[in-house]
Amino acid sequence: MNTQAARQDFPILNRKINGIPLIYFDNAATTQKPRQVIDAIVDYYTNHNGNVHRGVHTLSTEATDLYESAREDTAKFINAKSPSEVVFVRGTTEAINLVAYSLGCSNLGRGDEVLVSLMEHHSNIVPWEILSKCKGFTLKYAKVHDDGTLDYEDFESKITAKTRIACLSHVSNVTGVINDVKRIGKVAHENGALMLVDGAQSVPHMRVDVQDLDMDFLAFSGHKMLGPTGIGVLYGKKAILQKLSPFQGGGEMIKEVSYGQERCSITWNELPYKFEAGTPNIAGAVGLGAAVKYLSDLGMDNVFAHEKELTKYAVERLKECNNITLYGPRDLSKKCGIIPFGLKGFSSHETAALFNEYGIAIRSGYHCAQPLHQLFKLESSARASFYIYNIPSEVDRFVEILKELEG
Ligand SMILES: Cc1ncc(COP(=O)(O)O)c(C=O)c1O
Repeated sequence: MNTQAARQDFPILNRKINGIPLIYFDNAATTQKPRQVIDAIVDYYTNHNGNVHRGVHTLSTEATDLYESAREDTAKFINAKSPSEVVFVRGTTEAINLVAYSLGCSNLGRGDEVLVSLMEHHSNIVPWEILSKCKGFTLKYAKVHDDGTLDYEDFESKITAKTRIACLSHVSNVTGVINDVKRIGKVAHENGALMLVDGAQSVPHMRVDVQDLDMDFLAFSGHKMLGPTGIGVLYGKKAILQKLSPFQGGGEMIKEVSYGQERCSITWNELPYKFEAGTPNIAGAVGLGAAVKYLSDLGMDNVFAHEKELTKYAVERLKECNNITLYGPRDLSKKCGIIPFGLKGFSSHETAALFNEYGIAIRSGYHCAQPLHQLFKLESSARASFYIYNIPSEVDRFVEILKELEG
């Protein structure tokens, strides 16, 4: 992968922060956008803007074609069997809420169990907690080892005949730990349960094949994979989505609303429109389509290899610094390009503010994963996370600053 050439596609990398060229290490929060994505959105609004699926005029037809071809490209990107299995939503959070509320409304009740892990982002915990209080099902938490890796035995032992759905992040947004979701999915299926994978931190960084991994649901966000904010995907197996009730009601998601005997009877639209109530984020989908094309051209195996290499280099170089502690597994084969750390004498926010003075963007806080921080006995952590445009010289600068701070 030609990283230097790719860097030229990102206008924001010309920015200076405090007079210093930007080094962007906050990719797990959101990624920067290449010219190709920005241009696709500008072109959409400049030349093709219209509402989708409703009109026969040229602009409406063009908008519909662009929106649907983004869906087709996204379906190919994750190897879905059909574009109708790709539901456009606002992001990972909305995708998980869609599954939780749709399942919760009609399929979950007392005696049922839902299983999540303690390494989940709050978006894969809070909807289930809310729903379990309304519907009376039991929410169980699988353990995580001290190094942040999943306790597979515990997860598997908690999948029972009562489990309706097992929910797990593919990659932790705190540690970068990669979970074997195929293994967990197999046990879930053997017990008659569904499997939801939070792919917010995996789909942007590695090849994810929903058929090979036999996923029932996969949730991910466009803005973490070079696309715009406000667009994301819920992938679901067709047969499962067909049985699921819609999460939101409104226009677009119905086939017919007919009034009689003082009530309206409603039939749902076909997939995926049943789950896309109201006017969708058309420009967002177009931008996501351009992002998917950009990543496909790079090749997801190349993207993954680049980040692995850079992470290995960073971890090796960070051994030269005595003032930082790295969290998460030592074994790099278990993780990808996310490096959580603590800087001696500084809170995580002070650490991020300090790096910002040097033009380096990193994350601080608990990264919407408080239970995992509780387990690590940490209030918060600092986090550097890489993407396709990061290069070894940026890591060198990061290390240089740490050494300067050591004095
Ligand atoms: C693992 C994981 N899940 C879910 C989310 C939520 O994503 P979004 O805010 O785009 O809905 C994030 C965002 O950081 C994440 O890292």
